Amino acid sequence: MRKNLQKQLKHIERFSKEHGGMWNIPPETGMFLSLLVKLSHSKRILEVGTSNGYSTLWLAEAIRQNRGGRISTIERDPLKVNLARANFKRAGLSRFIRIYYGEAHKVLKRLKGSFDFVFIDATKEEYLPYLKLILPKTKPGALIVADNAIMFKDRMKDYLDFVRNHPKLESVLIPIGSGEEMTLRG
Ligand SMILES: C[S@@+](CC[C@H](N)C(=O)[O-])C[C@H]1O[C@@H](n2cnc3c(N)ncnc32)[C@H](O)[C@@H]1O
Repeated sequence: MRKNLQKQLKHIERFSKEHGGMWNIPPETGMFLSLLVKLSHSKRILEVGTSNGYSTLWLAEAIRQNRGGRISTIERDPLKVNLARANFKRAGLSRFIRIYYGEAHKVLKRLKGSFDFVFIDATKEEYLPYLKLILPKTKPGALIVADNAIMFKDRMKDYLDFVRNHPKLESVLIPIGSGEEMTLRG
């Protein structure tokens, strides 16, 4: 990983620890997401729940190494949108990222697909409604990763039941970080 990016990720880790409320994924989850994006050669990524942009930077660096692509990321807190923008700039990865400020449901309705990699990390009870808006914007072979599938499994039970029982989805729980539910659209 580039030295500057490593420095920026550490900077965000320290900031989030000092200020609280950013709810960033742990670095091992960042590495896991990065490997998935590289292995799947994903180019069009969607993230729901940017916060101050920590997970977005892991995804953006993977996109950069994939020789291009774009991340659309959604956040409804204006303060976090500003923090994220500054972090993207400092890491030199802004050109790969478009941040959408607003309620995920509203943004998702107007976003144009198609996405080949999706990371969901916002309000747990809303994962299933997000997914229903996202699925029509994906093609077979798309990967969808949902965070907190162990830590908040009860709050996202409807989502987990849906992806684990849908005939066109294959889904597995990866016990890394807070638990990642990884789903392949067949
Ligand atoms: C767990 S944090 C995201 C952390 C980020 N993925 C990371 O690892 O750096 C969840 C974020 O989703 C945002 N959020 C929650 N519900 C949302 C919604 N309905 N629309 C847009 N943003 C939402 C919150 O403001 C919060 O910043």
